[in-house]
Amino acid sequence: MSDVVTLERRGETALIRIDNPPVNALERAVRDGLRVAVAQVRDDPDIRAVVVYAAGRTFVAGADIAEFETPDFETDGFREVLDQIEALDRPVIAAIHGTALGGGLELAMACHYRVAVPTARVGLPEVTLGLLPGAAGTQRLPRLAGAEKALDMMLTGRAISAREAVQAGIVDELLEDELVPGALAFAEQVAQRNDPLPRTSPRAVDPATVPDQLFQRAREQLVKRPTGNPGPSRIIQCVEAAVQLPFEQGVELEARLFQECRESRESAALRHRFFAEREARKIPGLPRDLELRPVKRVGVVGAGTMGGGIAMNFLSAGLPVVIVEAEQAALDRGIGLVRKNYEASAAKGRMSASQVDACMALLHGTLDYADLADCDLVIEAVFENMQIKETVCQRLGEVCKPGAIIASNTSTLDVNRLARATGRPNDVLGMHFFSPANVMRLLEVVRGGDTAPEVLATVMQLAGAIGKVPVVSGVCYGFIGNRMLESYLRETEFLLLEGATPSQVDRAIQSLGLPMGPCRMIDLAGVDVAAKVVIEHRATGGLPDDPAYRAVVQALMEQGRHGQKTGAGYYRYEDRKPLEDAEVLELCGQLARRFGIEHRRSISDEEIIERCLYPLINEGARILEEGIAYRPGDIDTVWINGYGFPDYLGGPMFWADTVGVQEVCQRLADYADLRGNDHGYWDRSALLERMAAQGLAFSDWPFS
Ligand SMILES: NC(=O)c1ccc[n+]([C@@H]2O[C@H](COP(=O)([O-])OP(=O)(O)OC[C@H]3O[C@@H](n4cnc5c(N)ncnc54)[C@H](O)[C@@H]3O)[C@@H](O)[C@H]2O)c1
Repeated sequence: MSDVVTLERRGETALIRIDNPPVNALERAVRDGLRVAVAQVRDDPDIRAVVVYAAGRTFVAGADIAEFETPDFETDGFREVLDQIEALDRPVIAAIHGTALGGGLELAMACHYRVAVPTARVGLPEVTLGLLPGAAGTQRLPRLAGAEKALDMMLTGRAISAREAVQAGIVDELLEDELVPGALAFAEQVAQRNDPLPRTSPRAVDPATVPDQLFQRAREQLVKRPTGNPGPSRIIQCVEAAVQLPFEQGVELEARLFQECRESRESAALRHRFFAEREARKIPGLPRDLELRPVKRVGVVGAGTMGGGIAMNFLSAGLPVVIVEAEQAALDRGIGLVRKNYEASAAKGRMSASQVDACMALLHGTLDYADLADCDLVIEAVFENMQIKETVCQRLGEVCKPGAIIASNTSTLDVNRLARATGRPNDVLGMHFFSPANVMRLLEVVRGGDTAPEVLATVMQLAGAIGKVPVVSGVCYGFIGNRMLESYLRETEFLLLEGATPSQVDRAIQSLGLPMGPCRMIDLAGVDVAAKVVIEHRATGGLPDDPAYRAVVQALMEQGRHGQKTGAGYYRYEDRKPLEDAEVLELCGQLARRFGIEHRRSISDEEIIERCLYPLINEGARILEEGIAYRPGDIDTVWINGYGFPDYLGGPMFWADTVGVQEVCQRLADYADLRGNDHGYWDRSALLERMAAQGLAFSDWPFS
């Protein structure tokens, strides 16, 4: 018998137990173990019923995704085991607790009955990896739950509760009892009843239960909102086949389409994203058994745009928050906005009125810093100004209790300097939330020179607990994301000075799949906000001595064109619709003449994409070279979760591999020749040059 799958007799029932921690993933050993166990049942006529369950905290929570990366991976072997389970001539009952996801639910659906504890959840999330269920899931789920429900579950990847699964016909019974005794009792009952075995595969989906035009409407949705994900269109095809074709033919189609998905670049990118997010939580060199600092109460300083949103993350997770402001009016406004946001969620049915009240009851507003004395973590989110922040940090160093963690939400300022201001730099790091802070998943965790390891580890863990995707960054201007963004915006503006229009730049970038080009993005975030960052950066000596550097955004601000909020920025807006504005083109022309920049008649989309994105990749390589980011995947995680880089392109570094690092490097050199390189804009990072010379890809990281 295998280590991970065991068979045990309880009277006339066989218990097949899967024990493959942490989540009982369907690795080869589990599949092989199941095959052996099924054969044992087949050969033992004394067994009258079989219960399949899993040890630990969950049923089988999915496939071993790493196996998908092996070139000859296929699902035939697992599907065969499932067919053997279904073909057994004695009732087989899947007993579900925790989650039955992906292959786990496919296994359960091959059993004759499914019982679950009330807290269990089931789902087929393959689409999130650009895949479809590949072990007959697309064929069995519609036969159990109907085409509409199956389609919805597979297209969204959403896991449903055990109760919903009972209503949908996926689960037969909720267990009031403990899992194994409950399942055993159920097994004995069905064995005694001796009913014909309810196998799923021979069933047909009753066409009368399929809503009119279900598949056509689903396809239209995809055309209306293309996702770049290869899964959805093929899932629709498979479910349609489940309605129209015999099981075997549906399974054949599914197997073929599964492989198409798996071999696609987009699915590889989505899988990369999955692994990268998981990897980003790991901090090299940190001992595993570090004792974390308890965080039970959180303080936030500043109740502005960011402070309120930051507070909401903790309130929603049930942690009390003290929010400190400088002025009563700002405090009232900030707290009012938090309530308004929660009420908007309640209006959309995402939370109940009593949950809104419960969150608000956890929030305490004050003008007195002394009220922070009990907090285990305090995050400052006051104005982006070194002097103000230094004063605030000094104050925090005094009022916070020993052992409390002090964090700054600064976007650009030197975290080490702020850490020194507190007088206790070991307790300090950056927590760079993105706006809106209660919505955006990314959190850049900025590791200062003196940040204590357990402080870093505590915040990484806390980030996960409040639903964020944390990525560690070292200290530098703009950290990982905004630092790379700078080169992207630099080239955007030079392209405008050379004669490209905002809509042309945006269209070219959006053609790649980014939801918004750079001009629309700044108009939305605020031209004034963006221009002030440039001005501040120049004042601190961080910019090249080039008067043309991001001159457009500054000129727009001077003209009061602050973006969408003022009805004009890079575009003019009519009913929030961006329209090309001749005044902006004229302004760009004037600036170009002033700086002696040649106006060109035609600039290709290809040039726009290369000039905006290749320097960004180059900066990413520099960030790796300097040790600011630990791995290319961390950079991709930042860009997908913080800047809307399409997940099916895998992030900028993964995309660079797709284009080819040598090609990126060569084009940077070409642009240096073509556009001139007085200010070093086209200097290639040593790492990128080395990679190009040695034929390395970012996926080969770490290089020896
Ligand atoms: N807005 C964004 O998109 C964004 C994104 C990421 C990070 N950040 C960073 O977050 C921080 C806050 O930005 P914001 O957009 O929320 O600014 P904001 O101007 O909306 O809010 C700042 C708040 O801090 C309060 N404040 C100022 N001095 C104070 C003091 N001494 N004590 C207590 N409260 C004080 C102000 O009254 C104001 O309400 C900045 O460091 C900014 O760089 C902003």
